[in-house]
Amino acid sequence: MRLICCAKIYHMDKFKIEKMTISSLDEVMKIEKLAYGEHHWSRESFVAEIDNRISSYNCAYSQNKNLAGYMGLWKIIDEAHITNLAVHPDFRRKGVAKSLLLYALDECYKEKIKYLTLEVRVSNEGAIKLYEVFGFKSLGVRKKYYQNNNEDALIMWSENIFSESYKKRYEKLKEKIGDVILK
Ligand SMILES: CC(C)(COP(=O)(O)OP(=O)(O)OC[C@H]1O[C@@H](n2cnc3c(N)ncnc32)[C@H](O)[C@@H]1OP(=O)(O)O)[C@@H](O)C(=O)NCCC(=O)NCCS
Repeated sequence: MRLICCAKIYHMDKFKIEKMTISSLDEVMKIEKLAYGEHHWSRESFVAEIDNRISSYNCAYSQNKNLAGYMGLWKIIDEAHITNLAVHPDFRRKGVAKSLLLYALDECYKEKIKYLTLEVRVSNEGAIKLYEVFGFKSLGVRKKYYQNNNEDALIMWSENIFSESYKKRYEKLKEKIGDVILK
């Protein structure tokens, strides 16, 4: 009798994070439409954001150099406002958003930014879950913030990322997700 032993091989996709540039925008606009439908940002908004000195926009590329997702931040004194985060449907649940957030945290640590904040639709359970993984808490609601359907926005905040408790969370996240980012 022959025993067949099955070993499951796990393949982890890896992504390289680079600054968003004008040449990224054709691909960005494709994802923007897939992620937000008719309520997506315009190309001009991204051009303005790339030029904005308080902004930081980063893209995650697959090993085949396809744009998997992107994220934008505004840095205002010691706060970072997450302005946009979207991942191509083909690359979802592979850690792309987590990698972009981790990269943003690294940037915030380097620049002594203490808090991160964002608005998210109350119905966007996946995104809310993602931000909770990063320790964000919902601290308020902007009523009828989204004009297309009058949906409320949750206002989510991180704690001070320099606190001992957040640093522990950050180290754990880095341990889990750090490998997904190609250096
Ligand atoms: C929200 C979004 C950015 C997540 O991107 P992603 O790369 O798939 O997220 P990740 O793979 O890094 O997932 C991180 C975690 O978030 C949570 N999560 C993400 N999508 C989820 C979903 N659809 N349902 C439940 N949890 C979800 C999970 O906890 C997940 O971890 P797990 O896969 O280990 O369970 C992506 O779905 C997207 O682009 N959505 C449309 C645009 C959008 O809503 N942007 C956010 C605006 S505030």
